[in-house]
Amino acid sequence: MVTEKKLRSAPLLLGVMGDPIAHSKSPVMHEAALRALSLQGSYVPLHVKRERLAQAVEGIRAMGFRGVNVTVPHKVEVMSLLDDIDDGARRIGAVNTIVNQDGHLTGYNTDGIGYVRSLKEEVVFDLKGKTVIVLGAGGAARGIIYALLQEAPGQIVIANRTADKAVNLAREWSGLGNLSGCAVADVRQAVSRADVLINTTSVGMHPDIHSTPLESSWIPEGIVVSDLIYNPLETVFLRQAKERGCQIHGGLGMFINQGAYAFEYWTGMSAPAEVMREAVLHSLQN
Ligand code: ATR
Repeated sequence: MVTEKKLRSAPLLLGVMGDPIAHSKSPVMHEAALRALSLQGSYVPLHVKRERLAQAVEGIRAMGFRGVNVTVPHKVEVMSLLDDIDDGARRIGAVNTIVNQDGHLTGYNTDGIGYVRSLKEEVVFDLKGKTVIVLGAGGAARGIIYALLQEAPGQIVIANRTADKAVNLAREWSGLGNLSGCAVADVRQAVSRADVLINTTSVGMHPDIHSTPLESSWIPEGIVVSDLIYNPLETVFLRQAKERGCQIHGGLGMFINQGAYAFEYWTGMSAPAEVMREAVLHSLQN
């Protein structure tokens, strides 16, 4: 833990490592947070190629970065380079946040908890007993499903283009809750009983904005439909759900909240989430 006095004694160095990285909205978001709390410091984009990842991680220690976010394609590979991995991140199999405590690097995953915080704040206050359908079984789905399982849902059905991946993930975490997996093509009946339907795939993301991950007539009327994508802010999938009377939830809240959790881990201070959201929205619109 870092004291506020120590935090304010020297500029705070923060950043995000990825490849590519120029499009990342994390710098805009965290710079706004630093300014809002009058913290001296910077959050910089760090363009790190795969073959330089180990050196870059050593650089966190060498240059005294307090923390960094890790994004595509390094979230899995970075794990072997850290001193400690938080339990959740280990089970998810990916790290998106590193905290540097006097040269000792600990990896966390704030994507899933950020998503669930946003879902609960915006649309479903209590997930207990709910039937949740998750489209996709990749890295993003793992983070979200792991965090959802902490909320004691009644059932989670994972539906993926490649059925095996969904079935295997359901099997891997069968001890954590009522989970099953199937092909997207076979999920119609399960979807008809859903309270919450979540797209974790990249289908519908810019520039592929006209694609959708599920046949629209399968979306039940009036349920909660959520999409991790935030570019565009409202995907065609969400628009179709809205037309069917569903409550919709876009991916911006997840992005803000994964950043808010990371900021809280680095600073020990409560993150100014509204300021962060405004900064990202402003940047997306320009
Ligand atoms: P991420 O970390 O964003 O989840 P990932 O681990 O590569 O990325 O996983 C991508 C997910 O989106 C997978 O579930 C993938 O389905 P497959 O396992 O069948 O590949 C899904 N996905 C990606 N493109 C897709 C498409 N065009 N149609 C359906 N599913 C797709």
